Amino acid sequence: MGADGSYKYVVIGGGNAAGYAAWEFVKQGVGKNEVCIVSREEVAPYERPALSKAFLFKDVRLPGFHTCVGGGGERQQPEWYAEHGIDLMLNTEVAKANLTAGTKTIETKDGKSISAENVILATGASPIFLTKLDGADLNGIFYLRENADALKLAEALKANAGKTVVVVGGGYIGMEVGAAAQLMGLKVKLVFPEEHVMPRLFTPALAQYYEKFYQSKGIELLKNGRLCSAFLPDAENKGVRGILVCKDDTKEEISADMVVVGVGARPNTQLVGDQLEMENGGVKVDGNMQSSVPGVYAVGDIASFGVKQFAGKRTRMEHVEHARQSAAQAVKAAMGKSDAEYDYLPFFYSRVFDLSWVFYGDNVGECVVGGSGAPQIFAVWLEGGKVMGAFAESAADDEVKRLKAAAKGFPKAVDEAKLTQLLADKSTPL
Ligand code: FDA
Ligand code: NAD
Repeated sequence: MGADGSYKYVVIGGGNAAGYAAWEFVKQGVGKNEVCIVSREEVAPYERPALSKAFLFKDVRLPGFHTCVGGGGERQQPEWYAEHGIDLMLNTEVAKANLTAGTKTIETKDGKSISAENVILATGASPIFLTKLDGADLNGIFYLRENADALKLAEALKANAGKTVVVVGGGYIGMEVGAAAQLMGLKVKLVFPEEHVMPRLFTPALAQYYEKFYQSKGIELLKNGRLCSAFLPDAENKGVRGILVCKDDTKEEISADMVVVGVGARPNTQLVGDQLEMENGGVKVDGNMQSSVPGVYAVGDIASFGVKQFAGKRTRMEHVEHARQSAAQAVKAAMGKSDAEYDYLPFFYSRVFDLSWVFYGDNVGECVVGGSGAPQIFAVWLEGGKVMGAFAESAADDEVKRLKAAAKGFPKAVDEAKLTQLLADKSTPL
């Protein structure tokens, strides 16, 4: 940092993407004291996916999962940043950012002023809070996004072993936290409005497999139009004793000792929404993750970008692999070292109980499901005779590698022989 608080590069946000941005800056040979990362979290960047998995049921804690261990890099603890001359400002929330001038200025909530030639926005997303519902302020209601949330949630799950948790939401958080809670000895009730779990990705046939698995573990699924519409207070009006669920014109009380809510996330764009061109609820970026303002980049959950292999289809992706790769792209571009546009192969994954699935590509068109189902499942999405996306549950590492290599070529014409083999049993992925 210059004596005047100025940097060549400032990263706003200290999550998954920020950690990978730091790694890339170092790989590209950035000078000492040229980079500053400003994060409102109290800990150095970490692999956020850990929070809804082993963190909860196996007590895995930081520093075990600082970035970039998940992507094959070093475990970057605060000393790593110091050694590489990167200033890491923790516990520091950015309150204002003026990005439209040549030199960008950033003001923090605690009164610091920082200026930068280039800014990388990596503020991620926040949970959608059900603040408008009656009882939203009661004790015993949990959300999960950051390390601090996960510590509180893990403690509450432990304290409630043998008791009941209602998990609101049948998406990623609902599925992963529901599984962790069952493993921690709680009775789990999963409440969501759709017809089946993971509505953003799964088809009914795929979902059925996971729903049966959850039910076999004693997890109750309360779905099909069921919306959480209030939190119910206990006798002292302090803690939660369950939720009120609306379905059509009926109301139903579901009792529980604690509640976890996972009803989606919203990108944190409050700092910049009126200064940059926006799209899909995030910041519109080009193939170098640069926004409509030169020298301002957006990465990870907040970036709306074009997926090259899907004819430039524009989207946001709230998944870790994109956070990692988009951060690297933006750093190279900001340092004048980008030699190709962002070419991201969409990749999603999840792990629950002993299950583990991966998905590559786009879930458009007709989905054909195959595999033995014990526990292997393979599925492909077909549109206009082309393979658009591919899914595998419990595939071996080499099978996932082959699937990834094949997916890089999607969309491509279906190879009927390979498809038949894939769907019959194990993979020769496409
Ligand atoms: P991220 O949220 O990681 O970081 C944003 C950072 O910016 C935070 O530290 C935040 O505090 C900070 N910030 C925001 N506003 C600020 C301000 N004004 N000033 C300073 N700092 C500010 N994906 C996947 O592919 N597989 C998986 O298994 C999982 N699992 C998973 C579990 C859980 C519990 C969550 C919440 C999410 C996942 N994900 C996932 C999604 C994945 O973690 C997510 O896509 C990445 O963390 C996105 O990285 P970003 O850096 O964009 O945001
Ligand atoms: P999500 O969009 O996956 O699921 C939200 C669920 O909540 C949906 O089923 C939705 O219908 C339901 N819902 C909405 N309002 C409701 C209400 N009033 N009552 C009951 N159900 C309601 O979002 P999430 O699971 O909250 O995940 C949050 C973020 O974390 C996302 O960005 C996600 O990508 C990320 N995440 C990803 C992973 C992964 O990739 N494995 C794991 C955990 C979290």
